[in-house]
Amino acid sequence: MKAFTTKLLPALAASAVIGGMIIYDAAAADLDKLVEDCAHCHGKDGASTDSKVPIIGGISEQYIIDSMAIYKDRDRPCIEAEYLDGPDKGNKTDMCKIVDELSEGDIEALASFYAGKTFVRAKQEFDPAKAAAGQKLHDNNCEKCHADGGSSPEDDAGVLAGQWMPYLEQTFESYASGERIMPKKMKPKMEKLSDEDKENLIHYYGSLQ
Ligand code: HEC
Ligand code: HEC
Repeated sequence: MKAFTTKLLPALAASAVIGGMIIYDAAAADLDKLVEDCAHCHGKDGASTDSKVPIIGGISEQYIIDSMAIYKDRDRPCIEAEYLDGPDKGNKTDMCKIVDELSEGDIEALASFYAGKTFVRAKQEFDPAKAAAGQKLHDNNCEKCHADGGSSPEDDAGVLAGQWMPYLEQTFESYASGERIMPKKMKPKMEKLSDEDKENLIHYYGSLQ
């Protein structure tokens, strides 16, 4: 036993230190590399310019960590996406495959990185009459958890104000079909909305630019 400890412990300690250093260096270099990969779809600093890809810069750290866990558990659909740029341009993947490749440390570093950026609202066309109707619906049903017109990241419920309308439309559909699990208290509010209500809400969020 003594021989075992004296022989093995120093070796273990040394490799742990070296391992620790390697891990540390890799994590620092990796964040840049990881962000570069995300940027090929989500744009620079998460300010997506593609209407099917959500803007993720300026969303709360907790929401990003939660979303990644939801993808990992397959509690929301992973919609097939094409790399819009970079060496993989044109190749198909999805958020589930992407999340499966990330460690917990990667996810935390990415979430902190994107939470520190600014949410750059999408420039998009909307119908002012629908947006006005949507604002009323929002104030009565959604404002409690999506404060300031859905612009506050502090609710840890994403940012709706200025998000891409086609992404929001897809999101409403996946909540309605049950493919994306809804927070318990949001469900009754969402379920009483007509298709027209949903459209009005989407125009309201799109109108915030
Ligand atoms: C090939 C394109 C692509 C790449 C690469 C990519 N994403 Fe995504 N991401 C998407 C699309 C499309 C969606 C929305 C559809 C869905 O939910 O499947 C999305 C959704 C998300 C969401 C949910 C946003 C919300 O409002 O709920 C987060 C968070 C996210 N991505 C983070 C990342 C991070 C971090 C990386 C890099 C590690 C990354 N994505 C890489 C295409 C991509
Ligand atoms: C009781 C609190 C609560 C209420 C009320 C609520 N939400 Fe939510 N909402 C949340 C939380 C928490 C999340 C994040 C969880 C998730 O990812 O599904 C969320 C997520 C969302 C998302 C997805 C955002 C994204 O980036 O993918 C949309 C869209 C949304 N809510 C719309 C609405 C609308 C519209 C209403 C009003 C009709 C509403 N919510 C009412 C708590 C609420």
